[in-house]
Amino acid sequence: MQDNTSPTVVITGASSGIGLGLAEAYLARGFNVVANARTDERLAAAAKQLGSPARFLGVAGDIGQRDTARQLIDRAVERFGQVDVLINNAGIFNAKPFVEYTEEELDRIVATNIKGFVYASQAAAAHMVPRRQGHIVNITASLALQPNLKVPALLPVLVKGGVNAATRALALELSPHNVKVNAVAPGIVDTPLYTPEMHGFLNGLAPAGRIAQVREIADAVLYLTNSDFTTGVVLPVDGGMSTGTW
Ligand SMILES: NC(=O)c1ccc[n+]([C@@H]2O[C@H](COP(=O)([O-])OP(=O)(O)OC[C@H]3O[C@@H](n4cnc5c(N)ncnc54)[C@H](OP(=O)(O)O)[C@@H]3O)[C@@H](O)[C@H]2O)c1
Repeated sequence: MQDNTSPTVVITGASSGIGLGLAEAYLARGFNVVANARTDERLAAAAKQLGSPARFLGVAGDIGQRDTARQLIDRAVERFGQVDVLINNAGIFNAKPFVEYTEEELDRIVATNIKGFVYASQAAAAHMVPRRQGHIVNITASLALQPNLKVPALLPVLVKGGVNAATRALALELSPHNVKVNAVAPGIVDTPLYTPEMHGFLNGLAPAGRIAQVREIADAVLYLTNSDFTTGVVLPVDGGMSTGTW
């Protein structure tokens, strides 16, 4: 059933981990959810996991391609009438010593994390600015605020740091149009990115002594998209990882 009365959130990278948790959190708050990931199969599995709600629409495609971003926003508007929130969540994280990164890894991370952010935000902003309302939230990483010697991750830090800077600049540019732009910078989150065997090591990376649950990241995103006067914020949700050394 189509629902043009409820608000609509578009989430990139919503087939697993944080993106899937965000889809669940927004569905629970009555939003229509438009979910992106690279394949129909993974989106169908996500829809099933969420209980196959009528307010869920999957739009498959590589977010590093401009056409995917356009389709994502166009299909959301076509089905639900408007886009109220865009969450740029799709991203690649690969930690390794700096000199070991390959050209292919650099191309892939730039395509997903930088081009994906630019294309999806452009398509969303073009829709939100004339309506004079909307929220964009970028999922970055607290490692970009405070690097950690135990987790060398130069490429993720490079692109997430760029998106943190762009969050503030875009918030400024879009503030006169009443479109808010913020970022949530997680520390380490319990997602399929990490095997249970890695949790012991990962728990020690935050002064809080544990990694985050997806629900805790979703809570921060929900706060930002519920706030009418918060923009340009990069909000660490990392158990204190980015506050200093310990
Ligand atoms: N987990 C952490 O500890 C952590 C910490 C800091 C920041 N983050 C950030 O949080 C975000 C989500 O991470 P996660 O841990 O939830 O990772 P994840 O479980 O691996 O999920 C990544 C999602 O992005 C999608 N994706 C990857 N490349 C894509 C592309 N080119 N086009 C469209 N979708 C694509 C994946 O879908 P398909 O594979 O189905 O296409 C998947 O749904 C990322 O930006 C990550 O950098 C995570």
